[in-house]
Parts: sequence; structure tokens; C-alpha cells
Amino acid sequence: MRSITKLICGGLLATAVSSALAADGQAIYQKGGSNPGAIACITCHGPEGMGMDAGGFPHISGYPAEYLNKQIHDFRSGTRQNPIMLPIANGLTDEEALAVSQYIASMKSPKTPEVTRAKKPEGEGETLALRGDWTRNIPECVVCHGPGGVGVGTSFPPLAGQHPSYLKNQLHAWKNGTRKNDHADLMGHIARALTESEIDAIAQYFSGLGK
Ligand code: HEC
Ligand code: HEC
Repeated sequence: MRSITKLICGGLLATAVSSALAADGQAIYQKGGSNPGAIACITCHGPEGMGMDAGGFPHISGYPAEYLNKQIHDFRSGTRQNPIMLPIANGLTDEEALAVSQYIASMKSPKTPEVTRAKKPEGEGETLALRGDWTRNIPECVVCHGPGGVGVGTSFPPLAGQHPSYLKNQLHAWKNGTRKNDHADLMGHIARALTESEIDAIAQYFSGLGK
């Protein structure tokens, strides 16, 4: 009997200790991390993780936790440069970065339509998205980002419903080399091949899906 009580008490204690140590993703999102630099995500990414077009704050709710956590580490390492996110990423501990990424991934995100390559594309943006331009080695975006840009697995983020200013900022960042955090610089090659008017058109196309 005594050994059972000891076992139960020991178990409870271990649970209490591990939950005290485990970072609380929701609390970090809403109130910030343990370091003052890690300010509350909600301030810019919003209560539902929908971001804000005017600020260049991306929609992030429902994105894969692995992708989000990778971005936080990329901001820190400088393979992705952004003066707003750098001090925030630096302020988070590794454990907090993972916990807040898991919380954001669990937040609800609006559904967007799955536009497949079977559709006849209309306009410049949709043509690039569904067909690419192989005369310039630009693959169709949906081959990696999924039908309608819904995102695929943990590495290919959604584009559908994302804010146009943010989408444009990212394509420009790859173009001018301030974002070089993807495998074999595939996005860099694509962004450098796109004209300004194509960047505009594609940002309008993906941001408009599901609206
Ligand atoms: C002061 C505003 C601000 C706050 C607060 C903020 N962010 Fe951001 N966040 C941004 C901006 C701006 C970007 C876009 C950066 C860029 O253009 O590269 C961004 C981008 C991101 C991205 C990349 C998204 C993607 O699709 O690649 C992640 C992940 C992220 N933030 C996580 C967080 C987390 C976690 C917190 C809270 C600990 C947080 N942010 C707090 C402004 C903010
Ligand atoms: C060969 C695969 C591939 C193709 C084709 C591709 N992408 Fe990407 N894209 C990626 C990967 C991988 C990432 C994420 C990189 C990282 O880890 O940050 C990405 C990220 C992005 C992002 C940043 C999203 C965010 O939340 O920060 C944008 C914008 C984007 N791609 C636009 C496009 C557009 C527009 C096209 C078509 C013209 C396209 N991509 C075609 C692989 C691809």
C-alpha cells in the first residue's frame, strides 16, 4: 500500500514539475514570452491569427507548427531578415518557440477552395499559379503549394487567403536576397524570374481565394 501511495505521489509530483516547466503556447501568444523582447504575438498577428494587410503582418493561424517554428529559427539565424520579427524571435527560448508554434497551428483558419490544374486559368495571376511559365523555368505555384495554394505537409506553406502586401514582401525579399531560407533557393529562382506586374497579379490572385 505504502509503495502504491509513493508511486502515485511521485507521479503527481513529476506531472506538476513538467507542466511548470513546459512553456504555455497560448499564454505566450496572448501575453508574450518570459523575456521582455518576446512581445505578445496577438498585438500584430491578431486574436485569431489573421494578421493585418496594412502592417504587413501575415495570417498564421492553422499553419503547420514545424513551418512556423522553422521561420522563428530562420529569423534568428538571419537566413530570413526582418527587423520587426528579429528581436521577437531572439526573445523566445527554443521551448517557447515550439510551444507557441504548436498553439498557432491549433488555431482555426478559414477554409479556401482547392482550385486544381484542370481549371482553365483566367488572367495573369491564375495562369502563373496553375501553369507557371516554363519558357522562363517558372513552375506552377500549385505544384508545391497545393491546389488553390492550400499548403502541403509541413514544408510548403499555404498562400491562399494570405494578405497581398505580405505575399509581395516575401517575393521581394527572395528577389533581393533578404530571405534565403528554403531548400536549394527554389523560391529565390522563382521570385527573380517574376516581373513586378506578375508579383502584383499573383499576390492578388492568392489573397483573393476564399474571399
Ligand atoms: C510588432 C508586430 C509583431 C509581433 C508582436 C509579432 N510579429 Fe510575427 N511577424 C510580424 C511581421 C511584420 C512579419 C512578416 C515579416 C516578413 O515580412 O518577413 C511576421 C512574421 C511572422 C512569422 C512568419 C510567418 C510565415 O508565414 O512565414 C512567424 C512564424 C511569426 N511572425 C511568429 C510570431 C510569434 C510566434 C510572435 C509572438 C511571440 C510574433 N510573431 C509577434 C510582426 C509581428
Ligand atoms: C518547388 C516548390 C515550390 C514552387 C514551385 C513554389 N514554391 Fe513558394 N515556397 C516553397 C517553399 C518550400 C516555401 C517555404 C520556404 C521556407 O521554409 O521558408 C515557399 C514559400 C513561399 C512563400 C512564403 C509564404 C509565407 O508564409 O511566408 C510565398 C509567398 C511563395 N512561396 C510564393 C510562391 C509563388 C507565387 C509560386 C509560383 C510562382 C511558388 N511559391 C512556387 C516552394 C515552392
